[in-house]
Order: sequence, then structure tokens, then C-alpha cells
Amino acid sequence: MNSSLRGWLNEHLGIPVMLLLRGWVLNRVVANIPLPAARYAYYRAVCGIKIARSSSLWMGAQFTGGALDQIAIDAQCSIGYDSFWVAGAGIRLMNDVVVGHRVEFYTSDHDPDDPAFGRRDAPIVVEDHAWIGSRAILLKGVTIGRGAVVAAGSLVTKDVPPFNIVGGNPARFIRMRGATEFTYRSDGSPLFS
Ligand SMILES: CC(C)(COP(=O)(O)OP(=O)(O)OC[C@H]1O[C@@H](n2cnc3c(N)ncnc32)[C@H](O)[C@@H]1OP(=O)(O)O)[C@@H](O)C(=O)NCCC(=O)NCCS
Repeated sequence: MNSSLRGWLNEHLGIPVMLLLRGWVLNRVVANIPLPAARYAYYRAVCGIKIARSSSLWMGAQFTGGALDQIAIDAQCSIGYDSFWVAGAGIRLMNDVVVGHRVEFYTSDHDPDDPAFGRRDAPIVVEDHAWIGSRAILLKGVTIGRGAVVAAGSLVTKDVPPFNIVGGNPARFIRMRGATEFTYRSDGSPLFS
């Protein structure tokens, strides 16, 4: 249903209207609708963003890039206010991932040594039960391993192995997480968040 609606929109509305729907409407209008279910319906139907019904993505999320339909948020994830998603390639949050406020995902950059400023895209993956602290930035190609923790305000430039706690700029190993099995689950989208 969602993919057929997207197909219909792509076919009938033309590029300028689709850019409007996936630009200004998505990031300046839909982002601020205080009803999570309405935002998610738009994300799914117009942009192809996959978000499990048990997950929550709070208001203020901003999206850009040509691969919005490769963003996938699996079950029981929780993502705080004002997240920023640059999707030149896929961004996958696996199950039970917790993301603080104002976290930024950048799957794209440019080759600084290329005279043509060529673009480089690589996917980001965050595995089950990882926790990304507020205002962290994840750069292209990184995998945050199962149960790993990224401390608030960190800049992640390399993969983080499972259950490692990392922090700083660039993010470096702090210590191992003290648990490898977890009982917590996201409790869905709070109304008006
Ligand atoms: C990582 C975190 C969980 C703390 O872990 P902890 O091991 O209990 O932290 P401690 O305070 O014992 O600090 C351990 C070391 O990590 C360092 N550290 C802690 N937080 C850090 C951060 N955000 N960036 C860089 N280094 C950090 C400490 O300075 C300390 O270093 P030292 O051993 O050289 O003194 C916490 O700092 C954090 O970032 N929380 C996220 C907050 C957040 O985003 N909340 C939103 C809710 S979803």
C-alpha cells in the first residue's frame, strides 16, 4: 500500500512536487505535527521510511538525501527530539536501540582530495540494544555493535565493537558495558512527543 502510493506519487506529481513533499513539507511541517502516528504515516507513505509500529521517533526529525527509503527503524527503538538523518545510503537501527536528543547520522560526505569534490556514501548500522547519547554524530560507514554505548556529544568515525562504551571527539574506548543481556524495551511513542 505504502510503496504503491509512493509509486503513484512519483509517477503523477513530478519532481518539483516530490521535492517539496520530501523537503519543506517533510522537514518544516510534518516534523512538528504533535501526533506521532500521523508523522509516521507520512514518513512511510511519502518517503518510504520504515519505522516499526513499536518504535518512537520524536518531533523535529529532519531528513535529507536520496535514500530515505533505505532508512529502517526496527522494533522497540526510541529516538529523541530533533534527530538529523543524511541518507545518501541506508541507515538501519536494529531492535531496542535508544537514541538521545539531537543525534545526527551522516551517510554521505565528499572526497576532500578529489578536484570534482566527489561524493562518498556508506551505510550506518546500529545493532540491537545500542544506546546513542544525545548530540552524538555518527559518520558514514560506521556500525555501532550490539549493546554498545556512544557517550553524549561524541563524534563516531569508526566502528564501535559490541558492548564497548566510547566517548569524545573522535570517540575512543572508555570501558566495557557492565551487562550483555537487557530487559528494557521502548514503550512506544508518548502522545505529543
Ligand atoms: C557514557 C555515560 C553513560 C557515562 O558512563 P559512565 O561510565 O557511567 O561514566 P563516568 O562518569 O564514570 O565516566 C567514565 C569516563 O568517561 C568519560 N566520559 C563520560 N561521559 C563522556 C562523554 N560524554 N564524552 C567523553 N567522555 C566521557 C569520563 O570523563 C570518564 O573519564 P575518566 O575515566 O578519564 O575520568 C554518560 O556520560 C553519557 O554520555 N550519557 C548519555 C546522556 C544522554 O545522552 N542522555 C539522554 C538520554 S537517552
